[in-house]
Amino acid sequence: MSEPDAIGTPEGAPVPEVPAPEPAPPDAASITLEDVQNDPELSLYIASADRVMDAMGYTEHGFRHANLVANIGYQVLHRLDFTEREAQLACVAGYLHDVGNALARDAHGQTGGVLVYQSLRDRVEGADLMPIIAAIANHEEAEGTAVSPISAAVILADKSDVHRSRVRKAVNVDRDIHDRVNYAVEQSFLRVDSDARTVSLELTIDTTISQVMEYFEIFLGRMQMCRFAAEAVDARFRLVINGQELLA
Ligand SMILES: [Fe+2]
Ligand SMILES: [Fe+2]
Repeated sequence: MSEPDAIGTPEGAPVPEVPAPEPAPPDAASITLEDVQNDPELSLYIASADRVMDAMGYTEHGFRHANLVANIGYQVLHRLDFTEREAQLACVAGYLHDVGNALARDAHGQTGGVLVYQSLRDRVEGADLMPIIAAIANHEEAEGTAVSPISAAVILADKSDVHRSRVRKAVNVDRDIHDRVNYAVEQSFLRVDSDARTVSLELTIDTTISQVMEYFEIFLGRMQMCRFAAEAVDARFRLVINGQELLA
């Protein structure tokens, strides 16, 4: 007879089965950037998302942005010594992260995650698909946060894409702060230092177009999200504007 407050399986009770250890994940992901780039359905989602964003007056959210976030997302994990598989998954998630805008801007992370799940569920291993959709669903600061290294890489890559080339109509620069800040950014570079484990967003801003203060006015939440994302990959986020470190 065991003590009433004793810890352990009571005598005679069935012993719970210990699940077999999960096999180690394979070296390569079951989906690649090339696979999603060549998929007509996913291409339609990206083109449609960009049309909706255009109609709503947002900056460019099409193939340029998708490819950029894919490539930077891959580099972040590759340079910080994560596995090739994780870097590939960040690449695919980065390419697809904004497809939910094809429906509406609100909750586009979550709707995008569901769209991608529906599209890829029969062709991608579940262990690869779930982190992809979690990264997509958590990439916006209003609705998510870095939930894995893959998710962190997508966030860092997405938020670093602030650039003049994203502005569709320069005539809006005077009346729209997002267009003005993007237009003022002449150079944008996400530098990943493997040894120091820092991820630095280096921006060159023409302050005759937009003051640095305006950048913070609209992007402070994003920068805080980047700081947390960098911590999720065991790194430190730095923001450097016109050569000056503003966030460290
Ligand atoms: Fe987004
Ligand atoms: Fe984006």
